Amino acid sequence: MLAASTAMPLHAFNFGTSKKLKIVLVGTGIRGTGFWGQRLVEEYSDILEFVGLCDINPSRLEYGKKYIGVTCPTFTDFEKMVNDTKPELVIVTTKDSTHHEYVIKGLEMGCDVLTEKPMTTDETKCQAILDAEKKSDKNLIVGFNYRWSPYATKVKELLMKKSIGKLVSVDFHWYLNTYHGASYFRRWHGNMKSGGSLWVHKASHHFDLLNWWIDSEPSEVFAYGDLEFYGKNGPFKGDNCRTCDHQKECDFYWDITKDKHMMDLYVDHEKEDGYIRDNCLFRDDIDIYDKMSAQVKYADNTVLNYSLTTYSPYEGWRVALNGTEGRIEAWQDIPYFKNETIDEAEKHAKEMDQGGKDEISYEPVILHKLWNEHETVQVALEKSGHGGGDKRLHDKIFKNPGTKDEFGRTAGIRDGAMAILIGIGARRSIESGKPIKIGDLTDLDPMVKRG
Ligand SMILES: NC(=O)c1ccc[n+]([C@@H]2O[C@H](COP(=O)([O-])OP(=O)(O)OC[C@H]3O[C@@H](n4cnc5c(N)ncnc54)[C@H](O)[C@@H]3O)[C@@H](O)[C@H]2O)c1
Repeated sequence: MLAASTAMPLHAFNFGTSKKLKIVLVGTGIRGTGFWGQRLVEEYSDILEFVGLCDINPSRLEYGKKYIGVTCPTFTDFEKMVNDTKPELVIVTTKDSTHHEYVIKGLEMGCDVLTEKPMTTDETKCQAILDAEKKSDKNLIVGFNYRWSPYATKVKELLMKKSIGKLVSVDFHWYLNTYHGASYFRRWHGNMKSGGSLWVHKASHHFDLLNWWIDSEPSEVFAYGDLEFYGKNGPFKGDNCRTCDHQKECDFYWDITKDKHMMDLYVDHEKEDGYIRDNCLFRDDIDIYDKMSAQVKYADNTVLNYSLTTYSPYEGWRVALNGTEGRIEAWQDIPYFKNETIDEAEKHAKEMDQGGKDEISYEPVILHKLWNEHETVQVALEKSGHGGGDKRLHDKIFKNPGTKDEFGRTAGIRDGAMAILIGIGARRSIESGKPIKIGDLTDLDPMVKRG
């Protein structure tokens, strides 16, 4: 039994030897049909097969089945799907606030479960997942792809080698641009009850990276946040971009009709569930934050300064890690640091692309030792699929589960929980005006060193 373990023993799945791994997937949206659907079929059909697909929207489900390229049965009832098809692995790619239902049911029904990040959206659901995993002899993997990019891995390697001595503090700032940042406010992510706010939906990626780099668990968080740009702050509003009277004057006008896949995946099925993909990002019911800033203290006394911006002119991030013997500086996509000519929409499309046409670039990490000149470490990486993280995550799970994980990149339930608990704590801190102890949110006690 591997209750609440940090490292997921992927070899426990016994993939790819004599028979194909039987998979079902719930949530046939963009991530489910693309990264966890079509890509798995194209790359791993010799070792796995889809035996069922499920979604609450029956017509999106049928389109998703065609897009993924499978012939398996489809279901709107998850339990029926699992009972009828007897899968070994359940993949959960639904809206964030519903992950817990399928994670818990999947484990209870005797399946291994792989969920997209975030593991869930609040502390009560998080505890329910922890309890279900303890009772089960099956495993839960959380799909943290950022860890798998060679760039993030190089930072981890430098820290593991103690290149800057003992780590004491970290500055981490992520800038979402007016294309990608805005996209969250167009759909369910804009409502706290669906995505837990970007503190959880988006920042859980960042907090997972930070927890992994820092190699300790968060113990306390204090945060500020506000909604000052999107939602009720907009100069005008409409029902959605397609029908809006303000198309000409709105900088955020987005013509979804020009994107066939978006039309086929979302617009064609919106009558069934009211899911409007090109919704107005100035609608009044948006209740998440669009500026976020937090201080996090770790159990080993490392201090983190974090911020997330959602309407930056460019998309990028920067981190500085300060140690007793030096400092590491790393960044991606800051346009002034190199000659970037690609536009912001194209950059996002490349980031999400799973096409496999790898364009290699070299990105610097700066290692600065006290009293010495700095050193530039060049890291080769792909532009597609989250800096090459996506395909490495897939290979590790499905193709090479037994290979040594020397950087500890595999994420299990405890990692999934720690990544969301910082964001959940940040929300509670903004609501109460007080620092929040991570240990008060669930029964997990933050460890000085990650297990
Ligand atoms: N790791 C990454 O980089 C990454 C990137 C994109 C999305 N994601 C994650 O993938 C998940 C899906 O995101 P998306 O962008 O594909 O969203 P989406 O809106 O395109 O798809 C969600 C799908 O879930 C279905 N759904 C909603 N509620 C459901 C329920 N109760 N039961 C069954 N199905 C339900 C919807 O009908 C829809 O088809 C999210 O959790 C998101 O955080 C991760």
